[in-house]
Amino acid sequence: MGPGEFLTLVISIWLLPLTKGGPIRRTREVEADLPQCLTYILNSKLLVDCSDRELTELPEDLNYEAKVLIMSNNNFISFPPQLERFTGLETLDLSANHLSSPLPSYFGNMNSLNTLNLSNNNYGVWVDTGRIFSITRLDLSRNKINNIDEAAFSRMPQLRFLDLTENRINDLPPQIFANTHSLEIIHLCRNYFATLPSFQTNSLKTLHLNSCQISNLEKDALAGMSSLVELHLSMNQIESIPDNFASNTLQELDLSYNDISSITDDTFVSLPHLAVLNLRGNDFKEVWSTSHFASNPFLREIQVKGNRWSCEGFHLNLLLTYEFLTRDPPKIKDRASLICYSPANVTQMSWQQAYIRTWHPNEVSTVSYTSFAVFIGIIIGVVVTSCICRGLMAASGSRTPRQTAQTTVVNLNGTAQPAEDAVVRRVPLREEDLPPSYEDALLMPRLRSSFHSLPDFVEEEEEEERTRMFRRSRSIGDLTESRPRTHDRRSTRRTLQIHANANLDL
Ligand SMILES: *[C@@H]1O[C@H](CO)[C@@H](O)[C@H](O)[C@H]1NC(C)=O
Ligand SMILES: *[C@@H]1O[C@H](CO)[C@@H](O)[C@H](O)[C@H]1NC(C)=O
Repeated sequence: MGPGEFLTLVISIWLLPLTKGGPIRRTREVEADLPQCLTYILNSKLLVDCSDRELTELPEDLNYEAKVLIMSNNNFISFPPQLERFTGLETLDLSANHLSSPLPSYFGNMNSLNTLNLSNNNYGVWVDTGRIFSITRLDLSRNKINNIDEAAFSRMPQLRFLDLTENRINDLPPQIFANTHSLEIIHLCRNYFATLPSFQTNSLKTLHLNSCQISNLEKDALAGMSSLVELHLSMNQIESIPDNFASNTLQELDLSYNDISSITDDTFVSLPHLAVLNLRGNDFKEVWSTSHFASNPFLREIQVKGNRWSCEGFHLNLLLTYEFLTRDPPKIKDRASLICYSPANVTQMSWQQAYIRTWHPNEVSTVSYTSFAVFIGIIIGVVVTSCICRGLMAASGSRTPRQTAQTTVVNLNGTAQPAEDAVVRRVPLREEDLPPSYEDALLMPRLRSSFHSLPDFVEEEEEEERTRMFRRSRSIGDLTESRPRTHDRRSTRRTLQIHANANLDL
């Protein structure tokens, strides 16, 4: 063993504990790290964040003073017993776990608990525990709930917001929200209602029932909801709205993406406060009559895009309804949505155009007269401009206009200067001002984009040269103008030659 090899051996033995111990120690740190929940203050509230840690139970030594406890995205299958010690909790997020058990009764002692998030868990039923909870926001979305105890929400007298989106509910007892007097917003989208549910509630303002496979609306379904303002029924299978569909408070009705094909004078007659009506993506063909909205004085916005309007018949109604929808105040933001789909000779025309073209062809010619006049105007403009340009070109060739201008200035000043003076002044100016030869021009600095770059360009030069430079730059301006012209002329000449050659070939 040479001294070199011995040294290597010594060094590697010396390094061995480092290379081996390093990773092991780090793994241990990570393992010890994982359950450590973060504790910090957010919006002046003590927050404990135990999310995304694959937890099945809560670690000890948490700060039980926390106001916000986030336990989302873990593996809890039941409420961990330590939860009881968080008596001052305001927000508890248990979303994305595997919970299915009823709310523990000690939640009833958490008088500050207002937001409970149980979204994306395993609930199949939601039961009444007999305890009263102070919760104001309850998120039960993305579970498998198909059964809810009729009294369950009666025990949450302060509940204001309830999210039951994406569950398996196909029916709910009408009295289910009757005693939840603060409830204002319910999300029930993506459930399996076949009929618009009719709840008894005097506080509910917004009801979301999009994508619920609803095909049937009873005309008094809203009768029990005495404060309802918004009803969202987008993406259902509704084919018709019953006559006298009634609500004294409803202002916004979203029926977009259903299969509704007609409305009558009695459809909206019992919705006196209707202000926003969304009927996009339905099956309307026949153009509405303005009388359909005679009882809706507050109507201010209608959406109709994506219907296949038939302009068949070309009634005056087409125009009247168009005016009603588009004139002040315009109820339709997007006029392009009032487009004829059939008959074929007016496809893609607006209702208005279709009517005018059919019944008032004279007005069409007025339109074409106008465009004709505009066209003539443009031509005259072009001719005049080109004349002026030619005049200017000719003038800059002979320089006569500048001379006359100078003489005039002198005359206007009133100082009776002798004519020779003017002539003497003109002579050096002429010498300097001669256009440079093509080669000289190529050597000159280029005027890059516009005359805006001119000041920088002048500043680069020395002070004494200033006046001269100014004159020179004027000729550069002329140069930039004339350059493309020479090119044009050349290319014309080339084309002419080619033509001549072609003729010879023939
Ligand atoms: C509940 O948590 C989910 C994420 O897991 C979130 O999208 C949702 O907004 C939360 N709900 C409430 C009411 O804060
Ligand atoms: C389109 O055809 C209908 C008959 O189907 C006719 O009454 C109408 O005048 C035509 N409209 C136009 C703009 O040509």
